[in-house]
Amino acid sequence: MTTEVIKINPLSFGSSELEAAAEIIRSGGLVIFPTETVYGIGADATSSECARKIYAAKGRPSDNPLIIHIADPRDAEKYAVTSPLYVRLAEQFMPGPITVIMPKKDIIPFTVTGGLDSVAVRCPSHPIAHELIRLSGVPVAAPSANISGRPSATGAEYAIADFDGRADMIIDGGESDFGLESTIVKITGDDSLLLLRPGAVTRDALLCVCERVDISDTVTRMLKENERPVCPGMKYRHYAPSKPLVLVEGTPEDRIRFFREKQRTENAVIICYDEQKELLLPGSVISTGREDDLLSQGHEIFRALRVCDSLPGDIIYANLPGTEGFGLALYNRLIRAAAHTVVRAEKT
Ligand code: TXA
Ligand code: MG
Repeated sequence: MTTEVIKINPLSFGSSELEAAAEIIRSGGLVIFPTETVYGIGADATSSECARKIYAAKGRPSDNPLIIHIADPRDAEKYAVTSPLYVRLAEQFMPGPITVIMPKKDIIPFTVTGGLDSVAVRCPSHPIAHELIRLSGVPVAAPSANISGRPSATGAEYAIADFDGRADMIIDGGESDFGLESTIVKITGDDSLLLLRPGAVTRDALLCVCERVDISDTVTRMLKENERPVCPGMKYRHYAPSKPLVLVEGTPEDRIRFFREKQRTENAVIICYDEQKELLLPGSVISTGREDDLLSQGHEIFRALRVCDSLPGDIIYANLPGTEGFGLALYNRLIRAAAHTVVRAEKT
């Protein structure tokens, strides 16, 4: 298949520029589009055939369900059994980087939900995503636009690298704002949520609209073999660069000493903070922003993981992030990219 790439300025475009993309969705094709979190690979969420095309293009196991994207938060009730808590979440956070899991209605096929009787619903705030979904007139099933297991695409160039020849169209709308996927919550009661995947909508923010937010232990823990997780995506190795990644904990001084030692003794690539960069040896070093600037690190981390693959070096070392606020999202992605390999930098 030939993949058409179109460039659209998210800050100034007309609906007519998205008409061809919407027509592809309506007629059962695959369109890759930018969202405020990461790029998505989308198709008609009411069609089993379309879901199968997405799984095939991504090389994704078909028991890993897809998120359906809507243009208006009120549309959720057409596809899911909503509740007053959903309405509160929608009022507070939609459109925006949150996905809510609720019981599904029949119109959404089991192929889309990986056989589950629940469905994940998200209303993105990105103007191109919003207008594309609105024009399509159908809910758009869209996982992140990466080949299964690879880091999510945060810019069109990465979507093109993974999907040229595997999708009908790629819309280049520049870089994603957050660079990490949406927060996923499951509604578990009138006033309670289970946080399945941390993102830009933090637990503290969620606690402003409901009494109780439990964090699924799969957010920080490794799954046991044969364990069936609440969020099926959690069981697969994810976000992984092709070189092994090791996360490093310890005091700031010990981590610098550790990184320098690895630069000297191993063919190492280092992902570091701005303030660390000048203390390291020149060479394969990528910075993701200042340590206290979590938004910058979220924005840069998937890009950094992809860039590592093109740098000389056999192994990647990066700082183990903290778990406060948006840091939990960063921690969750990195710990999985590293397959839970963490070492402690200590004085030698
Ligand atoms: O920011 C995002 O959410 C991006 C953009 C494109 O919207 N999408 C995204 O989709 O990250 P994906 O497919 O890469 O991740 C969705 C995750 C998967 O881990 C999947 O297992 C989980 O959501 N999920 C989807 N439906 C679910 C359900 N009904 N129950 C539990 N987990 C579900
Ligand atoms: Mg994904």
